[in-house]
Amino acid sequence: MIKVSIVGATGYTGEQIIKILLRHKDAKIVSLTAKLDNEVYIDDEFPELKNLIHQKCYPFEKEKAISGADLIFLALPHTLSMKFSGYFLDKGLKVIDLSADYRLKDAEVYSRWYDCRHTDLGNIEKAVYGLPELYENEIKKADFVANPGCYPTSAILGLAPVLKEGLNSGSEIIIDSKTGIMGAGRKASLAFHFPECEGSVKAYRIGAHQHTPEMEQELSKIAGKNIKVLFTPHLIPMSRGILSTIYLTLKKEVSLGKIVELYSDFYKGKPFVRVYPQGKLPQTKDIRSNNFCDIGFAYDKATGKLVIISTVDNLLKGAAGQAVQNMNIMFGLEQTEGLI
Ligand SMILES: NC(=O)c1ccc[n+]([C@@H]2O[C@H](COP(=O)([O-])OP(=O)(O)OC[C@H]3O[C@@H](n4cnc5c(N)ncnc54)[C@H](OP(=O)(O)O)[C@@H]3O)[C@@H](O)[C@H]2O)c1
Repeated sequence: MIKVSIVGATGYTGEQIIKILLRHKDAKIVSLTAKLDNEVYIDDEFPELKNLIHQKCYPFEKEKAISGADLIFLALPHTLSMKFSGYFLDKGLKVIDLSADYRLKDAEVYSRWYDCRHTDLGNIEKAVYGLPELYENEIKKADFVANPGCYPTSAILGLAPVLKEGLNSGSEIIIDSKTGIMGAGRKASLAFHFPECEGSVKAYRIGAHQHTPEMEQELSKIAGKNIKVLFTPHLIPMSRGILSTIYLTLKKEVSLGKIVELYSDFYKGKPFVRVYPQGKLPQTKDIRSNNFCDIGFAYDKATGKLVIISTVDNLLKGAAGQAVQNMNIMFGLEQTEGLI
């Protein structure tokens, strides 16, 4: 039985990890902690957990968070994990960080996009980028996993096969994504109040969103050349789900049948990627509350552009589900345990 600690258990992704672990046959929650002024029962914090778990969540202290755990999930706002990861690793725990602190391999790039200096340079290299469909072998051997961002998960899975095959012309890709409001976390803030979001769609941080360098880092690695993305995120009035519409120019016309074949081969044996047949496009309602990434395609003859639609639940394949998938791989379990 894997003994698991969750830091940030009162947040949206923390709650999802708890829900998954409650149906996981090889994992047991030994510690729940959060910022909190006073301890709370987690099922008082999240009434949907009533009768499922009646465990206390404590104000965070490093020692309290260990509690004999084998693995710790850090579901914290960015800049906090870099303060604690080294401590937990030194104590012999495996660590899965859901924040952005260890995803970028260049600390200078991190500083520029996250507007703060990285304080744990020694562990950046150690952290494996936790996208199981690409790095399963590395994750198997890892003690430390940097769980990917939600938008990057949809974009990278949507693009990996076509970039690996070298079918794209040039190095610029347009990624236009829509997200639900839970992507911003549980803490109240004016921009995400119901009346601010209801009945409205808005673009934000065009070309300046902090997930841009994460996408560029990983897509460049796959393509074997420098890739630039123009990333435009949109906030839409739904609670969860991400849909990314990706535009790229192909070197030559390739039939959609061939594209579907390429993706189906690439993701063969990967239980959480569903490739859609020609003529069918994915939508967020089909990935809501599950760990799948659904991918579909269209081709625009007039512009020679392939349009890829890739959709994930930001809280699951984009965060907590992927984190548990990584845990399963790190402990030699079936990837799907607790998730299907
Ligand atoms: N939401 C998503 O869709 C999503 C997707 C992918 C990745 N992520 C990443 O996952 C991480 C967690 O996101 P979230 O949406 O779950 O955030 P959230 O709902 O805002 O929850 C944050 C959690 O961190 C705790 N916390 C804050 N400061 C702390 C401190 N100093 N010490 C201990 N605990 C502290 C909070 O405790 P209190 O409740 O006591 O304040 C809360 O439990 C973030 O880095 C986020 O970028 C989120």
